[in-house]
Amino acid sequence: MIFVPASLLVTGGAGFIGSNFIHSYMAGNPGCRVTNLDCLTYAGNLKNLTALEGNPNYRFVKGDIGDAAVVARLLAEQCIDAVVHFAAESHVDRSITGPEIFVRTNVLGTQILLEESRKHWQSGVVADFRFLQISTDEVYGSLGDTGYFTEETPLAANSPYSASKAGADLLVRAYHETFGMPTLNTRCSNNYGPYHFPEKLIPLLIHNIINKKPLPVYGDGLNVRDWLHVRDHAVAIEAVLKQAAPGAVYNIGGNNEWKNIDIVNLVCDLLDGRLGRGAGENRTLITFVKDRPGHDRRYAIGASKLTSDLGWSPAYTFEQGIAETIDWYLANQEWVADVTSGAYLAYYHSQYGGGAL
Ligand code: NAD
Ligand code: TYD
Repeated sequence: MIFVPASLLVTGGAGFIGSNFIHSYMAGNPGCRVTNLDCLTYAGNLKNLTALEGNPNYRFVKGDIGDAAVVARLLAEQCIDAVVHFAAESHVDRSITGPEIFVRTNVLGTQILLEESRKHWQSGVVADFRFLQISTDEVYGSLGDTGYFTEETPLAANSPYSASKAGADLLVRAYHETFGMPTLNTRCSNNYGPYHFPEKLIPLLIHNIINKKPLPVYGDGLNVRDWLHVRDHAVAIEAVLKQAAPGAVYNIGGNNEWKNIDIVNLVCDLLDGRLGRGAGENRTLITFVKDRPGHDRRYAIGASKLTSDLGWSPAYTFEQGIAETIDWYLANQEWVADVTSGAYLAYYHSQYGGGAL
């Protein structure tokens, strides 16, 4: 049976994937109310959502998932019947230099969100309810040259980021097993696309190439990631939210493995022509640097359960998706300049006067 929520609480909706999800979901479900709870860390940018300003079904609330009172109030006031939980600290390198906030947001924040959701769901004010935890293939650890992660692969997280996501995933599982709460859990591979913060590999490459800055490649550049367009991720999340059985876990992936150095070369080459530079010119910016500590060698995700159960498969080819992404960054240099200068942080204050909503 299809579950169609009437009032969604999206956490972390001002970030990369959350904002793409809100655009995609609201376009396909114009009658659904969406409340976006985001505390606007460095990664949250309301400019990702300007197209929705004035939409009566969309509401932004500046607040922390770790603030139980705010969460409880929103769940009750908005009569929330589904939580889609993106809010997190998401960058592996930052988790190595400062792990504490990762545990606070990703583990404790998720527990508080779960607990308030449990009380709300058990109060019976909504007929049906879902809590969808957005997670990552990184919880499964690292692969050798062959094989791929399935939903049964044991969790073996290696970085403080992935360990904190694994902790959250286990709490979500525990709320289903212990309380019977209708939770769902998706684990997706590396996303790329518009509104991606330029600390992550692909937007960092585009930004540095445009500005003729070095392109740092960690270690030997032979680590492998599976890349999925963020809009394909958004469509998969919607399918799981509406169709999956409570308690289910689904992997989401693009069947699109790339060695880092091959991605770097590709992005360099695609930008040579677009920037009016000679063939091979951008590759001269490539700089091999010291490896990331504990750098997972290879991620590869088996998403056949999602395809066979729910009929999802990616719509983007990588060729189309990466070309469109590069063109989006070239056309949105103002967005990139705002993000890299930090000016976007002032946007909220100019729009909302700096007060809490
Ligand atoms: P992001 O860093 O771009 O955005 C995170 C958002 O969460 C930001 O808007 C931030 O302000 C908000 N946030 C952080 N702490 C918060 C708190 N305490 N309360 C409220 N809001 C808070 O992240 P992303 O890349 O969009 O990732 C979103 C989710 O998807 C994360 O849970 C991540 O683990 C998961 N994921 C990401 C990828 C990827 O490739 N980026 C892949 C798989 C899964
Ligand atoms: P990243 O985008 O940080 O995602 P994740 O670590 O979650 O997979 O990195 C993708 C890959 O690119 C990863 O193997 C690390 C590597 N990388 C570089 O080589 N140089 C860089 O500057 C960055 C940010 C990442």
